[in-house]
Amino acid sequence: MTIRKVETTPFSDQKPGTSGLRKAVTTFQQPHYLENFTQSIFDSLEAFQGQTLVVGGDGRYYNRQAIQTIIKMAAANGFGRVKVGHRGILSTPAASCVIRKYGAFGGIILSASHNPGGPNGDFGIKYNIGNGGPAPEKVTEAIFARTKSITEYRILDVPDINLDELGTSTVGDMVVEVIDSVADYQELLESLFDFDRIRQLLTGTNFRMCMDSMHAVTGPYATAIFEDRLGAPAGTVMNGVPLEDFGDGHPDPNLVYAHDLVEILFGDNAPDFGAASDGDGDRNMILGRNFFVTPSDSLAVLAANAQLVPGYKDGIAGIARSMPTSAAADRVADRLGIECYETPTGWKFFGNLLDAGKATLCGEESFGTGSNHVREKDGLWAVLFWLNILAVRQQSVEHIVREHWQLYGRNYYSRHDYEGVDSDRANTLVSKLRDMLPSLKGKPLGGYTVDYADDFSYTDPVDGSTSSKQGIRIGFTDGSRIVFRLSGTGTQGATLRVYLESYEPNIAKHNLDAQDALKPLIDIAEEVAQIRQYTGMDKPTVIT
Ligand code: G1P
Ligand code: ZN
Repeated sequence: MTIRKVETTPFSDQKPGTSGLRKAVTTFQQPHYLENFTQSIFDSLEAFQGQTLVVGGDGRYYNRQAIQTIIKMAAANGFGRVKVGHRGILSTPAASCVIRKYGAFGGIILSASHNPGGPNGDFGIKYNIGNGGPAPEKVTEAIFARTKSITEYRILDVPDINLDELGTSTVGDMVVEVIDSVADYQELLESLFDFDRIRQLLTGTNFRMCMDSMHAVTGPYATAIFEDRLGAPAGTVMNGVPLEDFGDGHPDPNLVYAHDLVEILFGDNAPDFGAASDGDGDRNMILGRNFFVTPSDSLAVLAANAQLVPGYKDGIAGIARSMPTSAAADRVADRLGIECYETPTGWKFFGNLLDAGKATLCGEESFGTGSNHVREKDGLWAVLFWLNILAVRQQSVEHIVREHWQLYGRNYYSRHDYEGVDSDRANTLVSKLRDMLPSLKGKPLGGYTVDYADDFSYTDPVDGSTSSKQGIRIGFTDGSRIVFRLSGTGTQGATLRVYLESYEPNIAKHNLDAQDALKPLIDIAEEVAQIRQYTGMDKPTVIT
């Protein structure tokens, strides 16, 4: 089998963001674009000859073509085996599970997560290392450096493999195994949760749930687990067939984009429990009847109830949350006498803490929760964790969350996104804020006093690596906070994210709407950052 070496020239825009390289499909369709990035990944790795690479994606448009190219390039670069998901499907947490279970060298996940798909949507490619987690910054930086100097890539001229049939074939000297997308992952989840008890809950007459897979990757997983294995009635999983364009939807499980589910859970005769997951299955949204659980609260509730779940019954070692995530989990950690780590945004920062056994549960405000069972956030894991708690406590979602607030106080929380902002103007907003920081400390602002104002910088407690400029924080003396940062996953212009949080210990004040409770902070954010002026928008495009 001859390896074809193809001459190429660098693209200047292949810098991986918060979660891999994400671009419009049309960008990826340029000749050599995918190949350059894939070769740059391989060139940044060492000693993978003869080893296993896991490949799969969220089923979006261009997934299958990209997988065929990557398989031929993996063979030409000397991998010994590729494990690829049936029909090219592997959710992000399932890919992480497979990498770990089979001791693979690493994996390539094709996804743009919650970004819309289809020929006019987005595509993405991400490399995960042998622990199953996203490549750390030193690896993504090496990949980026390589994309700027690449001169050729290697590929085999062979026919496409049949992704629709399970089984093994060869490409050159490399073995390609098309694996069941669900089985390994389901087995892992069965080892963590009390499936018998959840089955009783889902087959009983007192409880109804609704799972919205948003025409994205979790459809086959959710159907296999909730309907086939746990006995929930057919139809429990809605939008369960993965489509290349997600049915023209925006597969982001929040109150804005998962509106079908929101209407059901906030409508007449609503079920007891609702959940949704995103394009690649790592995000989740949890709803009770007429009740929304913020992702920050969800992490705190899971941590506080972990002892009810078989996989965590011996206690959790620590919790980790991204900096903009609310401090609700910190209060649980405090009471449990364990550490709560505060990391920059992005799951890659949790990997070392999980590997070192310092953290067991992790979460982000952006609808991501997970644990040390894999090295990615995991949407269906969070849903099963909630179901396990509900099955044991036999109380409603709302009851459980309100009781949690009684015990720990309530962290009012919201994120305001301004999408599609002109990049220069967004950068100016941030740099003006940055310049202002030294003068803010001790200053009164709208009835609050600034306790600290800085640009978050993180030193990894395991390997000592540092990451700076991770978000501008203005903290007040009563524990309230405003955080500003620019998204690292968007593909059009810039997205400004403003994170708002206040703490309310008084039970009598736990019934406010979050936007009302946070109004004073929203006004301060406008005052200091001049958001309207710089974004040209008079309100956020998305509020979560
Ligand atoms: C966003 C979220 C972040 C998450 C990432 C990948 O990144 O804010 O928490 O880890 O997507 O799902 P951002 O666009 O803010 O850089
Ligand atoms: Zn995702």
